Amino acid sequence: MKPITILAIESSCDDTSIAIMRDRKVLSNVIAGQSVHEEYGGVVPELASRAHQSNIVPTVDKAIRQAQISKEDIDAVAYTIGPGLSGSLMVGSSFAKGLSLGWNRPLIEVHHMKAHVLAHLIDDDQQRIPDFPYLCLTVSGGHTQIVVVHSALDQEIIGSTIDDAAGEAFDKSAKILGLSYPGGPLIDEYAQKGNPEAFKFNQPSVDGLDFSFSGLKTSILYFIRDEMKKDSLFIEKNLFDLCASIQKTIIEILMQKLKSAIKTTEIKSVAIAGGVSANSALRSSLLDLRRMDCEVFIPKFEYCTDNAAMIAIYAHYMFLEKQFGSLSAAPKPRFAS
Ligand code: KG4
Ligand code: ZN
Repeated sequence: MKPITILAIESSCDDTSIAIMRDRKVLSNVIAGQSVHEEYGGVVPELASRAHQSNIVPTVDKAIRQAQISKEDIDAVAYTIGPGLSGSLMVGSSFAKGLSLGWNRPLIEVHHMKAHVLAHLIDDDQQRIPDFPYLCLTVSGGHTQIVVVHSALDQEIIGSTIDDAAGEAFDKSAKILGLSYPGGPLIDEYAQKGNPEAFKFNQPSVDGLDFSFSGLKTSILYFIRDEMKKDSLFIEKNLFDLCASIQKTIIEILMQKLKSAIKTTEIKSVAIAGGVSANSALRSSLLDLRRMDCEVFIPKFEYCTDNAAMIAIYAHYMFLEKQFGSLSAAPKPRFAS
């Protein structure tokens, strides 16, 4: 059978990424990040779409060159249709449509969160691939979900956050500590030098497999405010311990629900996905699940945070099912499922 070659575009938030995939193998996965948001404590949508606009052409060019293919080899053009920031999605979607029309190739519309979950099916010689069904804890800046992956295109959400996402909990805590955006990686780095038992923060009580993180943010905010009144150098003196304690609390919340999901579903293949799956404490907690007889799957760093290789792998399965998109589709910023 002729190999399937897909060019995929990811532009849902603040990373412009282009990947070329041939039969589940990544030929290139180029990511152009945007440092412009660092000083604002979060992604500024208007600045994000502008940066996508200037990054997209050179990133496509680089991805095609790195993959060492010619554009005639590409069978389909895939892009993230949602969820994400409207202006950011629009840049990727317009560009994908232009390529599809110009090259006379089908378009494939990919759901960003479902793509995170399928990053595990990328054919990488060093990584094992989970069998179906597998459980996936998807933790990003906008979502926190536990998903049962029945098959590549059949994903069932069995738990999700009722307020903030886990990545937001990291980023908002970091902001309270005066750290730049995105705060998750910084908390992770500083936590390694601190004591996770130094401070205790309230754990939420939410029924079933759902999550809540907004209470934690408030309890951190009030705690810091009170301590700073007593000692204006409190954050500076305790930064590493604060980061370690905050990280421990967030990871405990995630792991408690994940363990309940394993018990409820009796599925013992367990994966993590999304930007927060880059977190070192989450990765080691997941490895501990092997004591519960679970087989665990942790993506390579480059496939954790937003990247186009995950869009390409989802598109690969849609291509097999001939699930093609339309040139008149509008981006879906709130794409549910
Ligand atoms: O999946 P992603 O790249 O973008 C979204 O779709 O949201 O996730 C970004 C999130 C941010 O909240 C960022 O702080 C978090 O992932 N993140 C981390 C780490 N690396 C990225 N959080 C904790 N520890 C990390 N090492
Ligand atoms: Zn994401």
